[in-house]
Amino acid sequence: MIPCNTFPTRRMRRMRAEPYIRALTQEHHITSENLVYPLFILDQPKGQDAISAMPGLARLGFDEVYRTAEKCLELGIPAIALFPVLPAHLKSENGDSALDPDGVLPRILQGLKSRFPSLGLCVDIALDPYTSHGHDGCLDEKGRVDNDKTLARLCQQALLYSQAGADIVAPSDMMDGRIQAIRHTLDENQEIHTLILSYAAKYASCFYGPFRNALGSEGCLRGDKKTYQMNPANLREALLEVALDAAEGADMLMVKPGMPYLDVISHVAAQSPIPTFAYQVSGEYAMIVAASANGWLDLRAAVLESLLGFKRAGCQGIFTYFALEAAQWLRESR
Ligand code: PBG
Repeated sequence: MIPCNTFPTRRMRRMRAEPYIRALTQEHHITSENLVYPLFILDQPKGQDAISAMPGLARLGFDEVYRTAEKCLELGIPAIALFPVLPAHLKSENGDSALDPDGVLPRILQGLKSRFPSLGLCVDIALDPYTSHGHDGCLDEKGRVDNDKTLARLCQQALLYSQAGADIVAPSDMMDGRIQAIRHTLDENQEIHTLILSYAAKYASCFYGPFRNALGSEGCLRGDKKTYQMNPANLREALLEVALDAAEGADMLMVKPGMPYLDVISHVAAQSPIPTFAYQVSGEYAMIVAASANGWLDLRAAVLESLLGFKRAGCQGIFTYFALEAAQWLRESR
């Protein structure tokens, strides 16, 4: 560091004394343009269904999805991420309904693209909403998640959603080689404009609990996801994951979860010029909402401070279930 004079010639509080100088010297800002809003989609024309583990959020029927998409555009949120909620009878061992051209995702993508062409549409590429065992891939004869068999399905899934109107496909499955395989499939089929946002450093985290409640996959998960998602103890391994996904052609990189992994975000952002995203996951949402519902935290202050933390760590974009509220608060504070 540059040598620095000390007290009393240097008084740090001089720079904090008035709002104008605090504003002028602020290093990071959060805006609605940094946010991606994840939505849970029900295959029904109307209505919604509250998510018990994520108070304030609901699984949305198509009309509600369209209303929410409009709100995002109004508030300056550039993109939404879509997660389908499937009834048990559409889940199977190999997750076949992920590849149904008349499935819920292709139809909502077409509906959204035709109504809101300027809203970015991001979809997860992984089989877990569609498999009866809750894993992100298909299983081999010994019950292990079969990497290469899964890859072929992920490629078909990415192509189907891309053709239906997805702007960004986001592989969240943590199979090896999927970025390269998906890029190749998209390019071969002239889907060269579709972006790939890789969940590059995705940890086997307990903080996904409420998301699995939202999807209805919590009870059915056979075992855990530790054979493909990362060990929460590892940082160096995240840098290797990121380097591989960058080399395979990822347009954007994601670290997930967010708040407990700010160090990983910071290293990833410092090491790669590829735009870096974080996912403030369902458990992070639930913690902040629960504490504020008990009067232990101020919701607005806690949310905005947590989002600013992601920017300080080096993120460009943040997936957050608080996107609508945060964008509204940011607008009011201008
Ligand atoms: C599925 C997926 C998960 C999340 C996003 N995509 C759950 C998981 O891997 O089990 C979690 C998101 C959240 O907790 O908000 N591949």
